[in-house]
Amino acid sequence: MTSPATRDAAVRPTLDPADPVLAVIGGGQLARMMAQAAVALGVPLRLLAEGPDVSAAQVVPDTLVGDYRDLDVLRKIAEGCSVVTFDHEHVPTEHLHVLAEEGHACRPGPQALVHAQDKGVMRARLQQLGVPCPRNAVVADAASVERFAESVGGFPVVLKTTRGGYDGKGVWVVEGAADCGPVFETAHRTGVEILAEEKVDFRRELSALVARSPSGQVAAYPVVESVQSDGICWEVIAPAPDLDPELAVRAQQIAMDVASELDVTGILAVELFETVDGRVLVNELAMRPHNTGHWSIDGAVTSQFENHLRAVLDLPLGNPETRAAWTVMVNILGGPADRPVGQLYDGYPHVFARDPRLKVHLYGKSLRPGRKVGHVTAYGDDLEDAVERARHAAAWFRGDLEEEGE
Ligand SMILES: Nc1ncnc2c1ncn2[C@@H]1O[C@H](COP(=O)(O)OP(=O)(O)O)[C@@H](O)[C@H]1O
Ligand SMILES: [Mg+2]
Repeated sequence: MTSPATRDAAVRPTLDPADPVLAVIGGGQLARMMAQAAVALGVPLRLLAEGPDVSAAQVVPDTLVGDYRDLDVLRKIAEGCSVVTFDHEHVPTEHLHVLAEEGHACRPGPQALVHAQDKGVMRARLQQLGVPCPRNAVVADAASVERFAESVGGFPVVLKTTRGGYDGKGVWVVEGAADCGPVFETAHRTGVEILAEEKVDFRRELSALVARSPSGQVAAYPVVESVQSDGICWEVIAPAPDLDPELAVRAQQIAMDVASELDVTGILAVELFETVDGRVLVNELAMRPHNTGHWSIDGAVTSQFENHLRAVLDLPLGNPETRAAWTVMVNILGGPADRPVGQLYDGYPHVFARDPRLKVHLYGKSLRPGRKVGHVTAYGDDLEDAVERARHAAAWFRGDLEEEGE
């Protein structure tokens, strides 16, 4: 029998020491899907994970468990790695400046990443660049929210924590100054600032993804429609149906401009609102592979994960174009019933028998209500058919359907 130690010794010498080892900070599903792309490219990854059994730690043998807020831990993971990249945006930028000074290329770098960490900083910079955004202001208390509301034509107003929010956590719609109390309580308790934004009357939400390499090459994915429910991405359609081609180009141009102005390396996702009066406004930025790009694993010539790796390694980028007329991705979220772990696999006989063309990605995460545990992708020439197949499969995994035909 091979012990873990001898197995390790047998594996390591096959790596050429001259080949780059890529350090990935954060062990969620994005790192797991990066690992999948890295396997194909033969690029070894070293992972810094939050725990021994998190999503990516299950598939990356060279995993260190530690706290990404600890500079010594970051130094340890980066040792011997020329490039460091991320599964999330939360690594303190002061630590990344230190890593950069010590010779590790952080991609994206701290000067770029701060715009994905802090929505206040992002809004100020985009305004400077003349990028269209919802009207906004950093607010200190209910009285300043009221003043802001007056300046944008009244309530409702959207309030957001500038830092630390995700999946709609840290976003509130307030109808008046009286609603602001709990928001500022949270802000004071956690020491974050609050950003007020006009509530955009949007037709739908779009997302424009680009990959950008340090050499400056950019690959722009087709603009997609993303459907959110309670602040969580639920469904993505690539490309966005019936999108005015001029608006699509404008959205891609915004993403390309922001990527080069902020010197982003790797994937940049620009979340956008398509307003009812036919404009696009930037909602927020993410500097890592993004949920609205998961469709690209099965639906694009080069997935966002492969292009993220190519970009951070400064290799020529792959073609981002679609393989089919329509690709539909639906997230699998833990349902409210909180079914026991293990039942996701039980969904396979049904969904695979019903739809042999369906692609399923499960992240190895335990089920909790509202938690993203996987996604399904369907593609084809007929949009309605692809939507039906993807929705059916995701609903089946969620446990919302009992029998065929429902
Ligand atoms: N200014 C706004 N007007 C209208 N809806 C908004 C606005 N800002 C955010 N939202 C809604 O809230 C969701 C989550 O907001 P976002 O800033 O993207 O936070 P998160 O970091 O949690 O993704 C958005 O996808 C959108 O549906
Ligand atoms: Mg968002």
